Amino acid sequence: MAKISSSIADAVQLLHQGEVVAIPTETVYGLAANALNAEAVVKIFEAKQRPRFDPLIVHVASFADAEKYATDIPPLARQLAKKFWPGPLTLLLPKASNIPDVVTSGLPTVGLRCPAHEATLSLLQQLPFPLAAPSANPFGYVSPTTPQHVDNQLGKRIPLILDGGRCKVGLESTIVQILEGETIVHRLGGLAVEDIEEITGPVKLVLNHSSNPLAPGQLTSHYAPTKRIILGELASLWAIHKGPKTAVISFQNLGLGQFNRALSASGSLVEAAQNIFQVLRELDSPEIDLILAEKMPDKGIGRAINDRLLRAATGGLVGEN
Ligand code: TXA
Ligand code: MG
Repeated sequence: MAKISSSIADAVQLLHQGEVVAIPTETVYGLAANALNAEAVVKIFEAKQRPRFDPLIVHVASFADAEKYATDIPPLARQLAKKFWPGPLTLLLPKASNIPDVVTSGLPTVGLRCPAHEATLSLLQQLPFPLAAPSANPFGYVSPTTPQHVDNQLGKRIPLILDGGRCKVGLESTIVQILEGETIVHRLGGLAVEDIEEITGPVKLVLNHSSNPLAPGQLTSHYAPTKRIILGELASLWAIHKGPKTAVISFQNLGLGQFNRALSASGSLVEAAQNIFQVLRELDSPEIDLILAEKMPDKGIGRAINDRLLRAATGGLVGEN
């Protein structure tokens, strides 16, 4: 059983021993191991039951550390890191030879990120190696935003969950690559596209689907809980699907049915992002057989929430999990 503890020293020790430790970040909890130790990294894939073709993000303490693990960092990528690190931004960069191929699934690029969480930054500063860490959920399930979420599903497989409280952002990082001067967003996430565009100018969205799992980004069903989810206009969906086992996720409160969850009563997209994965987990219960959800306003972090809802709906409907 995993110990849930705020002891950074325990995490340091286990990571030095080549063990896997769940770590808090501002986005979601990660399942971390020494990124320079291929055997330790393999344990992450095993604990998550994640296919080896899906590469891991490497977490660093600073931009100076990023320069040890990437080569030829484009000037725009450098500017983005300077502006948004520590924070919910992952940069895909040409990988240095010290990063084992198992981390990047053989790709020539490595995803680097400096997380904005005090405990994990302190942990990274105390370690002589960076941390490879995917989200700390079994492959195909919703990312965890509390230590309890991690424990519920992976507690039996890992020795320690470093307790850093509830994740402040609640959605994974935005994945960006600068290619020949063009800014490509591979995954919408905690850093809004609008904020990136202030530095880079217009970006190109290249969001991935299950037909193309080798490329950057996500399998379509990656965020899906096991329930059927339908996205659309709630009042009309409710008229068709209302019932004792139908749940509703709204942006603000619509009060439909008994399993009714508002992501933010005050209409804050930041708060909605903090809540979305928690709500998807709560509603993934035997009392519920259908979830109706509405789209958030399509701006800022709302775009990333909509992306996750759409993926959950797609995966839920075809039962890919
Ligand atoms: O916020 C986050 O990014 C969290 C926290 C723990 O940092 N991590 C996270 O990792 O969401 P993960 O593995 O669940 O999702 C990262 C995605 C992977 O699915 C993979 O497709 C993509 O990033 N990725 C990582 N390295 C890549 C690379 N070198 N090339 C293309 N895609 C990459
Ligand atoms: Mg993930």
